[in-house]
Amino acid sequence: MYSIAIDGPAGAGKSTLARRLAKELGYIYVDTGAMYRAIGLYALRAGVDPADAARVEGLLPRIALRLENPAGAQRIYLNGEDVSEAIRAEQVGMAASAVAAHPVVRAFLLDLQRGMARTQNVLMDGRDIGTVILPDASVKIFLTASPEARARRRWLENKAKGIEEEYEAVLEDVKKRDYQDSHRAAAPLRQAEDAILVDTSELDFDQSFETLKKIIAEKL
Ligand code: C5P
Repeated sequence: MYSIAIDGPAGAGKSTLARRLAKELGYIYVDTGAMYRAIGLYALRAGVDPADAARVEGLLPRIALRLENPAGAQRIYLNGEDVSEAIRAEQVGMAASAVAAHPVVRAFLLDLQRGMARTQNVLMDGRDIGTVILPDASVKIFLTASPEARARRRWLENKAKGIEEEYEAVLEDVKKRDYQDSHRAAAPLRQAEDAILVDTSELDFDQSFETLKKIIAEKL
């Protein structure tokens, strides 16, 4: 089985690029962030503070996650409910980042994520795929961009959806999530030693796509 690990901070273009690459390669795309988001969503709905490790741990036995890949796009089911859209809300992203700091949550998802890579060729995106989940991945890429470039992209994306917000506020949010993700004790966001660094600050989508495709073709 082949596996491709793509890690990096929020907004570097990981998921859009990963989805397209997986489709082209005929691999199953696994968006691990969606799993943390689903747990964050469950905590919010249950009225539990996502930062409260003990209470979040108490919720885990009640959570069943299922991933499906119709037409190459991942759908995620939380206790049978398709939450693929609901998990994209901004506050769910923050809740995901908070629950992801608890080792018990990471352990809960580790088997599920590793199991998926055992039986099929996967392209998995996340924060700790190359460092923790798939240390023997066939290809590891660390995809990043400056906080300003990432905030600008998100601001433009939201604007296109009719969401008006201050660029400065988006930038603050990007920096806050970066800090949270890279300073936690459990599996912090960092580049694996054998990962190839790709900075997309100055690249558009097609250029980023071609760069990744070339790296993967050379490594596989
Ligand atoms: O990538 P996405 O923004 O959907 O991820 C949501 C949050 O889930 C991230 O901010 C991060 O804290 C957490 N996460 C993680 N490990 C992963 C994927 C996501 O800690 N492999």
